[in-house]
Amino acid sequence: MRAYVINEWIHPSKLTLLSDAPEPEARLDEVIVEIYSAALNFFDILQVQGKYQVKPPFPFVLGAEFAGKIAKDSPIPEGCPFRPGDRVFGSAQGSFADKVACKWKAVNPLPDNLTFDEGAGLYITWPTSYEALVGRAQLKPGESVLVNAAAGGVGIAAVQLAKALGAKVIAAAGSQAKLDICTKYGGADYTVNYTRPDWQKEVLKITGGKGVDVVYDPVGRIGDALKCIAFKGRALVIGFAAGAIEKLPLNLVLLKNVTVMGTHWGLYTSKEPERIPVVWDALLDLLASGRIKPVVYSKVYSLDEVASGLRALEKRETWGKAIVRVKNEDRKASAKL
Ligand SMILES: NC(=O)c1ccc[n+]([C@@H]2O[C@H](COP(=O)([O-])OP(=O)(O)OC[C@H]3O[C@@H](n4cnc5c(N)ncnc54)[C@H](OP(=O)(O)O)[C@@H]3O)[C@@H](O)[C@H]2O)c1
Repeated sequence: MRAYVINEWIHPSKLTLLSDAPEPEARLDEVIVEIYSAALNFFDILQVQGKYQVKPPFPFVLGAEFAGKIAKDSPIPEGCPFRPGDRVFGSAQGSFADKVACKWKAVNPLPDNLTFDEGAGLYITWPTSYEALVGRAQLKPGESVLVNAAAGGVGIAAVQLAKALGAKVIAAAGSQAKLDICTKYGGADYTVNYTRPDWQKEVLKITGGKGVDVVYDPVGRIGDALKCIAFKGRALVIGFAAGAIEKLPLNLVLLKNVTVMGTHWGLYTSKEPERIPVVWDALLDLLASGRIKPVVYSKVYSLDEVASGLRALEKRETWGKAIVRVKNEDRKASAKL
């Protein structure tokens, strides 16, 4: 099968697609998924260079998120509700390949109204944004939310979810083109270019001088955003896309009675596994009803273009989820399975 097999730490520009990589072997609690689409993540860039906290032993296959079908010859572990041919999405090391072995509990059914391209980037970004806004910040209808990097993977999900929850959404991004994406695909109520000086004044004006109730930040710009947060506002730390781990002057937290809270979705697997199906039930309902819809970057990469996709991600060119099409879906054929 085709796969990006990694035997040593390399720069992503040096990635080579093998055509004769060994097929994955399923362990006791795993199924084999035939991959149709995979999602690109910033941590893939770090992982292939040995700069990410997850360092699988060599050799390993790059890629972490996918959508596809349970393979015809997949084992079906006890308790696993899936059958060969079922359309699924999930997460496992090794998704830049034709097939991946995956714990069946890390796989969800793909709603019929979604394509594999739309499903491939769901597994990490959407529950992160949902849990941050609902479980952590307890966002209420009518409240205002500032979403930083709002056209990015987790950002556009946060914009759509906050809208679905009845909040007023102010989307912040680094260019007019990205702000347009936030309006077109996210339904943002207002947009602000946060590369402009004094952009916080625009946010204060939009909120009638009060400031926003919730800040959602995947960039490392909480400190900037505290200039336009409301009294008793909640600030969500999601990530540090800008590179540096942000350090916060706590006087700003004190001055407005602010609560700063982190959300690390991956930790729920070990710390609060019972929360995971609750979040997915809510998300799958919202997805099936069409109230939220995954956003796929306009250039869909082929499997042999993973390096250029990762380069675009690194250069901040992409919006929504950047996707790699591993093989085309034949919906008529899949309906017969
Ligand atoms: N907490 C969790 O559980 C969790 C889950 C998933 C992801 N994350 C983290 O969230 C962050 C964003 O992930 P994502 O999937 O949304 O990424 P993404 O799609 O690549 O979007 C990141 C956005 O950050 C902005 N940005 C600002 N400075 C940047 C820089 N120096 N380099 C690159 N981007 C920069 C860019 O938007 P503008 O051009 O508009 O500024 C970019 O589009 C990452 O740090 C990721 O690790 C955390």
